Amino acid sequence: MGSLRVLELYSGIGGMHYALKESGVPAQVVAAVDINTTANQIYRHNFPDTPLWPKTIEGITLDDFNKLSFDMILMSPPCQPFTRIGLQGDIADPRTKSFLYILDLLPRLARLPHYILLENVKGFETSSARECLVKTLKDCGYTFQEIMVSPTSVGIPNSRLRYFLIAKASPGSFSFQTSSEVRQVDCSSVIIWRNNASDLPTVSEPFCPGTRQQEENAEESRVLYKLETTKDARRKSDQNSDLSVQQIQGFLEPRTEAARYLLPPKVLLRYGVLMDIVRPTCRRSVCFTKGYGHYVEGTGSVLQSCMETELESVFKGLDQQSEEEKLQQLLKLKLRYFTPREIANLMGFPQSFAFPEQISTKQQYRVLGNSLNVVVVTRLIQLLVS
Ligand SMILES: C[S@@+](CC[C@H](N)C(=O)[O-])C[C@H]1O[C@@H](n2cnc3c(N)ncnc32)[C@H](O)[C@@H]1O
Repeated sequence: MGSLRVLELYSGIGGMHYALKESGVPAQVVAAVDINTTANQIYRHNFPDTPLWPKTIEGITLDDFNKLSFDMILMSPPCQPFTRIGLQGDIADPRTKSFLYILDLLPRLARLPHYILLENVKGFETSSARECLVKTLKDCGYTFQEIMVSPTSVGIPNSRLRYFLIAKASPGSFSFQTSSEVRQVDCSSVIIWRNNASDLPTVSEPFCPGTRQQEENAEESRVLYKLETTKDARRKSDQNSDLSVQQIQGFLEPRTEAARYLLPPKVLLRYGVLMDIVRPTCRRSVCFTKGYGHYVEGTGSVLQSCMETELESVFKGLDQQSEEEKLQQLLKLKLRYFTPREIANLMGFPQSFAFPEQISTKQQYRVLGNSLNVVVVTRLIQLLVS
């Protein structure tokens, strides 16, 4: 196979480009497009030889696209219109405009790209934007597969459940049987992922009026400590005993300026009970989002760096203590944020990936939170091209 000409849309910090390199598929990125100046600085720093177009996708003409004569599109369109926390504006959201523009251009290209890979958040699979995508691909004769997958499926201790679509132009076919259903994690006959049921979206339990069921439910939702229920504790314990997933400690920096990343007292007191806390020996962490290091709740796990103290001993009865006592208890855990490099490690970025000096820590967390898991995408590119 000759070298593929790849168009990287919404290139951000280049997660797709790294995955392409790691996949071993002979390829060159002929153009990367993004409007974010910070992300573009980082992209240029790491890929100085790749043509980077700092402009809006809607501003690029059909003619300009045709001149690139690309064989593959890799893209992660903005996800805010589809997130559960957002307003779910879907195709009415102005941020979806550029994606609809791509769909409009695709059938009119002088030559259809042979391969397409798209990444988005969970929620995209039920959107109208996804319907438009599927319709366009069908009209253009593509064979495609949609997959929901999280990095835990490739042994990485981080949850980041995402929607992916891989498509091949006619007369291409996949090395596995495609299905019109959105595949959950495993790729059936082509086992490239380990099927991790605990990472799948929760299916609501059937209503059962029996007393025993009610008792069981009450036990499941009983708060143990730190607002955590029996069910939460069991899920975390199951995740931590899954030996096919690596331990967090393999992703930590050998030397960290720990003091710089310690959680300040104010944050400990205010958010202590809400934080997802992991130890270096854990095999799990929650998704790191762009607000990490700035907002605490729901933006990613924090690390307990003192191993001698048990979480339970700190949190049991904490609410009956004075502010000062509470703080003394919480400080025992030496809770710190993961560093941007550690998050990059958990997201599968190679050691060669670096930030230019002028990019602040807050900006680093932000762009990483917007990016993707490189190992997951590497596997998908291999699956797409195989
Ligand atoms: C989900 S992020 C992509 C992340 C990327 N894959 C990475 O590894 O960092 C979406 C990116 O799309 C860019 N973007 C959003 N709307 C755009 C548009 N109309 N034209 C070009 N880039 C756009 C944003 O600046 C952002 O960097």
